[in-house]
Amino acid sequence: MTIATEKPKTMPTQTANMTKNKKLYIKTWGCQMNVYDSNRMVDILSSLGYKPSDTPEDADMMILNTCHIREKATDKVFSELGRLKPHKEAKEAKGEKMLIAVAGCVAQAEGDFILERAPYVDLVFGPQTYHELPEMVLKANGDDRVVNTEFPEVSKFDFLPEEHTIEGASAYLSIQEGCDKFCTFCVVPYTRGAEYSRTAQEVVDEAKRLVDQGALEIILLGQNVNAYHGTGPDGKTWGLADLCYAINEIDGLERIRYSTSHPRDMDDALIEAHALPKMMPFLHLPVQSGSDRILKAMNRKHKADLYRDIIAKLRKARPDIAFSSDFIIGFPGETEEDFEQTLQLAKDVGYASCYSFKYSARPGTPAANLQAALVSDQIASERLSRFQAVINESQAAFNKSCEGLVMPILFDRKGKKPGQLSGRSPYFQSVYVEGNERLIGSIQNVKITNGFDNSLTGQLELLDGVVNG
Ligand code: SAH
Ligand code: SF4
Ligand code: F3S
Repeated sequence: MTIATEKPKTMPTQTANMTKNKKLYIKTWGCQMNVYDSNRMVDILSSLGYKPSDTPEDADMMILNTCHIREKATDKVFSELGRLKPHKEAKEAKGEKMLIAVAGCVAQAEGDFILERAPYVDLVFGPQTYHELPEMVLKANGDDRVVNTEFPEVSKFDFLPEEHTIEGASAYLSIQEGCDKFCTFCVVPYTRGAEYSRTAQEVVDEAKRLVDQGALEIILLGQNVNAYHGTGPDGKTWGLADLCYAINEIDGLERIRYSTSHPRDMDDALIEAHALPKMMPFLHLPVQSGSDRILKAMNRKHKADLYRDIIAKLRKARPDIAFSSDFIIGFPGETEEDFEQTLQLAKDVGYASCYSFKYSARPGTPAANLQAALVSDQIASERLSRFQAVINESQAAFNKSCEGLVMPILFDRKGKKPGQLSGRSPYFQSVYVEGNERLIGSIQNVKITNGFDNSLTGQLELLDGVVNG
């Protein structure tokens, strides 16, 4: 069945079948927005007595928060569902109920098909419907199967309860959703819907609450975060730069980042905002290709040189800045020459890190119809490994160049080895040091001793002969 799409007037906080301490297991794929959404689902479901659990065994509800960006992501969801099924059967054999839900972008894209292919799934709901979770869960507990892939007229942000779930001292904050860019390879405009910006006041208030809960770093999120254009408290439209200035004023906050941005929306005000003291000297700015021909076929709406100019301007505004990016290798029609231009762009920028993906045709996207010019899988794989060799070298060189520097590191978890802490540098590198667990949730100066291919190691700085902290 499809549930009614009328919006609740207020957020229901309790339901008749509420019992204390039900176990909720959430597994999350995809981008940081999905991580943010999962945390918000935990917040909402806590009002129904659900408490998060790290293991699926004996859970009362399982949510797979899914990603549809590349082909294998969908396959992974179905194989995970297959793994979860026996847990549900074991629970049902004891006469108890376990709800299995599929949320996120695969849910949005596949809808009813998920229930057909995995009949033991109870709920399927898209990314814009999370505020309706209490009613959906009530229905599913009452033996209805629920599919909800509407794009509601009102924003879920108007109905979500205040957030409680922050992990460590670095917190995500969604400020913008959806995308109107329609790059020809991408499912996001279809799975997340049209661009929507929260008001500046809502964002600043949420940022303050996160800082009150111990956040030292805030990562502003959006599929197209620098297209942000929310109403400001002064009634004017605020851009991302205005928001960064306002958030920079919050006492107790140390670091600001934002992700993911589009080169077309890097206006001069935002470039200048990178000089703000709390803005981290690191930007993820996806470019996808270095060939103008391919950028055009991708509908990226800019040329490679515009990207180079933006990088140069950012370096001028913030001389210590470093970059990461996303690239798609083997887009339909990509020739060896196009690919070499991509390699050249990557070499010119000298990325501190990078994500690169083999092109994956997504149903319903314009590029999926470009059958004639398909790049063979073998050539795409071969180009991808040549590309990754260049990127790996550039990343290793960047990490090596950090040796001997003293960097402020935000410690957010225990390291893999006993007595070890793990944290993030201003450049988002993983940094490992020996140190006391009570430093987790703080920023400490660390002298970098080794720059490895994928991480750094270092030593806590000595203050008056005593290890800091
Ligand atoms: N909004 C961001 C990207 C979001 S998707 C931007 O505009 O850049 C994250 C990354 O997944 C993209 O940057 C792209 O590199 C990759 N991606 C998206 N669709 C893809 C596809 N069909 N095949 C391969 N990679 C893809
Ligand atoms: Fe996808 Fe392009 Fe929108 Fe990024 S800007 S989310 S790649 S359509
Ligand atoms: Fe994936 Fe949806 Fe994010 S497709 S990358 S989870 S917006």
